[in-house]
Amino acid sequence: MPVIHLEDLSKLYGFGDATTVALEDVSLDVEKGEFVAIMGPSGSGKTTLMNMIGLLDRPTHGSYKLDGKSVEKLRPNARAKVRRDKIGFVFQSSSLLGDLTALENVALPLAYKGKTAGRRLKLAHAMLERVGLSNRAYYFPKQLSGGQMQRVAIARALINDPDIVIADEPTGNLDSASSRLVMELLREVHQMGNTILMVTHNPELTRYASRVLYMIDGSVARDESTKIGEIAESAVESVAFVPKSDEEADLEAVSAMVEGIPKAGDDVPYRRVNKVSAPRKRAKSVKRKRGRK
Ligand SMILES: Nc1ncnc2c1ncn2[C@@H]1O[C@H](COP(=O)(O)OP(=O)(O)O)[C@@H](O)[C@H]1O
Ligand SMILES: [Mg+2]
Repeated sequence: MPVIHLEDLSKLYGFGDATTVALEDVSLDVEKGEFVAIMGPSGSGKTTLMNMIGLLDRPTHGSYKLDGKSVEKLRPNARAKVRRDKIGFVFQSSSLLGDLTALENVALPLAYKGKTAGRRLKLAHAMLERVGLSNRAYYFPKQLSGGQMQRVAIARALINDPDIVIADEPTGNLDSASSRLVMELLREVHQMGNTILMVTHNPELTRYASRVLYMIDGSVARDESTKIGEIAESAVESVAFVPKSDEEADLEAVSAMVEGIPKAGDDVPYRRVNKVSAPRKRAKSVKRKRGRK
């Protein structure tokens, strides 16, 4: 039984002429333990899909079964409970609360679970240690670097021991060294048997994934199984769609990261993804980006 089962899921925003179809009849099964990378141009529906799967928002049409149970008709409290118990979120920019310490931020999701304060902080401490930040427990977010904040956010996402981790561009704002740490953490979480869904613009990061979905205009245009350690075919092709500034930043980060990322075998040639995009497509992607603002 798939852990996530979507059938003809659609999400529309707005009304009449101003309707945006953010997701159009997406059907998708994700098995427990998959590491799914989700790619695609800006506005293609990646975040909307993550919000549906993460129960942060409801579909307009279609059905969603999580662990075999229909969730689209749950009442808000029941949804919140399922979300809290099963799903951990990591967003692009850290969503830490500024007036709480790192430790308190990590402990936050436990507050609703009827554990004593002492017990909560102890668990949070252990989790901070796991992400290598026990020495920053009493720092406030503004005293931490971007990479440290993101690791605190991951610690918070993991504190409830969720089956599914949803990471929406988790390395989007990070330098290469921090990206690397964050990805290694996600890899560990995956190796422990959890299911990971990660939105990324960075083709290199598909090395961590066992499957790559490529979205266009609210649909899954391509669904590819990939070997862990290898860059996915569709990811290489998709570079042409990535906004150029992000792409360049990513690729710089990438060259620094490539060493040490798990590789499938030495006979797998490393593809230089920065040679892929044709100039015409680049121009188009830049226009796309401007159009977005
Ligand atoms: N809250 C919203 N209200 C109206 N339109 C939205 C909203 N959220 C997303 N959209 C639109 O839905 C489409 C998909 O957006 P999104 O899922 O954020 O794409 P991505 O994450 O791939 O960049 C876009 O056209 C976007 O403008
Ligand atoms: Mg998005």
